Amino acid sequence: MSYNFKDYIRVIPDFPQPGIRFKDITTLLKDGPAYKAAIEALKESVADLKIDVVAGPEARGFVIGAPLALALGVGFVPIRKSGKLPGETIEASYDLEYGKDKLALHKDSIQPGQRVLIADDLLATGGTIATTTQLIRQLGGEIVGAAFLIELGYLDGRQKLQGMNIRSLVTY
Ligand code: PRP
Repeated sequence: MSYNFKDYIRVIPDFPQPGIRFKDITTLLKDGPAYKAAIEALKESVADLKIDVVAGPEARGFVIGAPLALALGVGFVPIRKSGKLPGETIEASYDLEYGKDKLALHKDSIQPGQRVLIADDLLATGGTIATTTQLIRQLGGEIVGAAFLIELGYLDGRQKLQGMNIRSLVTY
């Protein structure tokens, strides 16, 4: 069966603030076959990349990145909001489509030279992924690409991530 994943993503106007049309993936996640198909499609979209490990930012990056890593047969590295990881970390601040935040990564989570695929549910302004990229490179990881369920083309996140191999399943 071929899926139009947009049919499974609910758009909620004015959340979390007026003017934002929130792309709610919980409607896709709760549908087992659709969720599985989305992960399979993401796996196929990165089949040409040699990947040692998948890294995904909290929290929605986990529900895409971890199953994708499992499907690819590689490990998963969680990138968390500041103050959540127990070991030694490196951190960086970033701007969101709405708001500001700080991301952290365990220092020993990526070995120099490892080929890293970044995975997340959504590419909006690209701020989260630019910061994620910065942290991974600081540890010596090589970013081979970034895979998303959703890309918001009108926010031009690709512009911020110039030169990166970007794969996304649906674009708004
Ligand atoms: C959302 C989304 C992406 C990011 C995209 O996460 O899951 O990670 O924003 O926006 P950007 O391209 O403008 O950076 P959020 O920080 O809301 O956290 P959550 O996954 O914990 O809800």
